[in-house]
Order: sequence, then C-alpha cells, then structure tokens
Amino acid sequence: PKTRIYRWTVSEIPGPTPNSTRIAVNGKSPGPLIQASVHDRILVYVTNALPNEGTSIHWHGLPQPETPFYDGTGGISQCPIPPGATLLYNFTLGGWSGTTWWHGHTGVQHTDGLYGPLVIHAPNEHKTSVEYDSEEVITISDVYGAPANALLDTYLTTNPVETAPEPVPDSLVLNGQGGGAQDREEGNPAGYFEVVVKPGTTTRFRLINAGSFAPIRLFIDNHMLTVIEADGSPVVPVRVRDLVLQPAQRYSVLVTATPDLPTHITPAFWIRARMIDEKFAYENVNMEPEARAVLRYTLPDDYTPTSASELGLPASVSGPPAGDTGEWDSLPHFDEWALRPLGAQDEDEDANARDADTKVAPPKRQQRPPSNAALTIPFKFSIQRTHEQNWRSFINGTSWEIPPPGEAALVSDLAGVGSREGSAGVKVWPTDQVIAALEYNRTVDFVITNLDDGDHPFHLHGYAPWLLGVGRGRYKPATAHLDLISPLRRDTFTVPRRGWAVVRIVANNPGYWAFHCHISWHMMGGGLFQIAVPPAPVSGNGTSMGSNWAIRAPDDIVEQC
Ligand code: C2O
Repeated sequence: PKTRIYRWTVSEIPGPTPNSTRIAVNGKSPGPLIQASVHDRILVYVTNALPNEGTSIHWHGLPQPETPFYDGTGGISQCPIPPGATLLYNFTLGGWSGTTWWHGHTGVQHTDGLYGPLVIHAPNEHKTSVEYDSEEVITISDVYGAPANALLDTYLTTNPVETAPEPVPDSLVLNGQGGGAQDREEGNPAGYFEVVVKPGTTTRFRLINAGSFAPIRLFIDNHMLTVIEADGSPVVPVRVRDLVLQPAQRYSVLVTATPDLPTHITPAFWIRARMIDEKFAYENVNMEPEARAVLRYTLPDDYTPTSASELGLPASVSGPPAGDTGEWDSLPHFDEWALRPLGAQDEDEDANARDADTKVAPPKRQQRPPSNAALTIPFKFSIQRTHEQNWRSFINGTSWEIPPPGEAALVSDLAGVGSREGSAGVKVWPTDQVIAALEYNRTVDFVITNLDDGDHPFHLHGYAPWLLGVGRGRYKPATAHLDLISPLRRDTFTVPRRGWAVVRIVANNPGYWAFHCHISWHMMGGGLFQIAVPPAPVSGNGTSMGSNWAIRAPDDIVEQC
C-alpha cells in the first residue's frame, strides 16, 4: 500500500456569469481526482480559504473503518473547518474499491462546485472478470445560476406556492464542460471534454452524478453501454443503450469503439447527459437540459472521413452535429438499439425512479445478508410546511439542522452511546432531533417510506447497505418481495415517490453516520437522520461501555468545536 498526499485549498473562484462565484479546490471545479488502490493511506490537507464559511470534505461511500471522525460531515463527524484553518484528513482505505466522489458536506457548498471524483482500484481489475483497455472518469453535475445559499434560502423560506419548487438547474456539465446551448452557439468557449479511443478497444467509463437535484440519463450516440459496477458493487454485465443516475449514484460502463467505422462517418460521437426534468416544479425557459462530451476515434493515416462541411455541419462544432441527424444514427452493425433501455421507457411512469436493480443487473459476487434483522427502524420521509410557512424535509417528524459548535453530537462522544438501543445518550441538537443508537454488530433493517411525490436518492454514510427491496405504495411486510439471497449493496438508492425501500446493515462500523436524501435542498431542509454505532464491547469485562479500540477523534478535530 502507498501513502498518497494531497494539499488542497478550498476557495471561491469566478462563476460562469458576472458576479457569480463557484467553490473550487486548488482553483478548479470539479476539483482534483483522488486515485488510489485498496488499503492505501490517504492524507488530504484541506485549507479553508473561503472568506466567511466553514467547510468540510466528505469521502462519499468510503466506509472510514476506525476513522469515522474523518467522514467530513459538518456538525456530525466534525465541526466545519473555520476560514483560514487547515485540517488533515488522514485515513487508511479498507478493501472497498470502485467509483465514487468527494464533496463538501457543510451546507450546500457541493452545489456551488465543491466536488470531485474518487477512484479506488482493486488489483488487476481491468483484466480479472471484465476486461478493458483504458478508463475515463466522467463527473456530471447540474449547475445553478445563483449561489446555492441564496437558492436554498428562497426554497425554504420565501416560497409562496403550495408545493415546494426546488431550485431548477440552468444546465449540466460533464467534467465541468460541455453544458449550455449558449456555450455552443457562442463558439463553445468552455469546450467539450474529449475521450480519445482506438477502434476496437474497450474503455471503462466511471460515471458519477455529482449534482444536487437532477437525475441524469447518460448515453453515447451509436454505442452500447455495458454496466459493470453500481456504487462500488460489481454487477453481472448488462448491455443497455442508456442509464439513469440519481444524484450521488455511480456506475461503470464499458464502451467498445467499433473496429471498422464506415468511412463516411466523421469519427466522433456525442456522449450525452440529459437532465430528467419532468419533475421540475416549473418551466425554466433558459434551462439547457443536455450536456455533451465527445468520444473521438483515432484512426489510421489512410482513413479519410467525409468532411464536416460536406455533411453540411457548422465548422465550429468539433464533434458530431447537435441534432440527431440520420447521418449519425445509421451505423449498420449496431442492431441492439431495440434492447430494453435500463430505466428508460418513457411511457412507464416508474422508469425514471428505477435504479439498476438486481433483476436487471444482479451483483457479480453474491454477498448474502444475515437472514433476519434484530431490529427494524421505520423511517418516514416527507416534505412539509412548518407553522412559520417554511418548507422543511422531515424524517420521523424531525427536521435536521446543522448544530452550532459545541452542540454537535460528535464522534468524540461516541463512547457515551453505550449499547442501549433507542436511547441516544448523546448531545442532541435541536432537542427533538432523532439519532438512532444501535447496538454493536446488530443486524438492522431500515424501512424507508417516502410520503412525498418525488423520488429521493437516499445515502447512508459508513455502510454499503443491502438493498432488499423497493416498491410503490405502502410497504406491507407480508406481501412485499424482499431479496434475501443476492441483493445489491449500494450506498445510494432511490426510494420511489409514494413508495418504500428496505435496506439492511450489520452495525459493525462504529461512528455517527448521516442517513439522508442526497438532493442538496432536501438534506439542508432537514431530510437527514443519524445513526450512532458504538465501538465493540470489550469482551469479558461485563460492561458494554468499554471498547476494544478507542474511537478518539484527534485533537485538531475536537479543537474546532
Ligand atoms: Cu455524498 Cu452525506 O453525502
């Protein structure tokens, strides 16, 4: 294993429109790729150069065994890093591998651009069960025309209508580029992200929805996608034309560049990401729902494609044309177009809520969960108006707020959780806030009921829960089909509108862990719940309060509160 050291400065950079700003790491949004191998040690020095906001960085999907205090959740695992201060995140990876991302986890900073990709490689992953020649990371995010704090405030407080209209994104970007019709019309100043491939080779695309609200449908003109990974879990390869990523979800897909491209084809294809905007609360006339990147073939010297001008295309466009013209859709040997797209049947109203479920893409390695849960925690999500006419998200009647320093139930208090299930025994903010205290090593089911009329991508920190089942309507234990044999494990899963999901964990990773809707507006509107998992009891001493390893947050974490 290696030690990988990163030095990051979080700061504001100029945004796409005059007077707008984004939040960047080392001047860039998306920020740097962290790339490591299983069991490596990661050191990230994060300096907060924001003028007047605390910050923290969360390593989404990394379980943080024995280092829950480096999970980066402001007000939960740490107090935010104050302006001018530096915090060292210092953790050793376990055996988890896959595609994930890091993002700001204090307020809505990730919506303003504080995010980037994170890839953990397994040994020989490109030639073990699936083979590919190269890989590319594509981070997709929705983009807003105003600062996220202002949008959040408007969403929560000054909303005059009967349903809460979440802020609607203006556009999408792929690796920070390729969004917006304006860009394209005005000579495309930002350019497109390009992936260059050799005919006949296979590329693994690691796709990340790093956005705040929009589900994203991704496809590549004239190419099929073979899904091999969902949130770090290898799946039995399935070929699809397109796939949907809910916020915070990731998939890996294999794309093979056709070995014998017809010569009349300009050797470049659009990689397209489209917002699924049917649920957006109002029509945003300026919204550009599609962002693009280019898949470009390198071709032998004697290859002479028909020039773009002969095909009547604007010369300024470097990739294929903007519209779906027949020219580009007619590669004869791609006859699998008719294959059922994954979650993409537009007539089917459930389609956009469907994750790559175990029926479509079963896990490659069966990881059977314990067959019974010792405890079931019901978990009801809703979005409602308070007496003050503010829109808040609620979980079991509580609406989370980031606690002020000193009020947070932090990891340093974890020994106080004890093992009395149902009693938190920890500092709680505000007073009606619920933290579910679990017993160490307990098998626990969460039954999440979504009372809202939107789909919600839920994320549990610290664990990759088994997704036992998902359905519409009310969850009925007697009749619901739960997969106890080979469920997919993933850290972010969709709970369909007016529907339910059941997930199972074994509570063996001590820490305070957030469990929340990953839509920024809902999380910061209160749709967050915490679980507290105590350290393993010391065997033989008769008490359950001790632990066989100390979860002691380092001084620099504690001093910030
Ligand atoms: Cu991606 Cu609570 O995080």
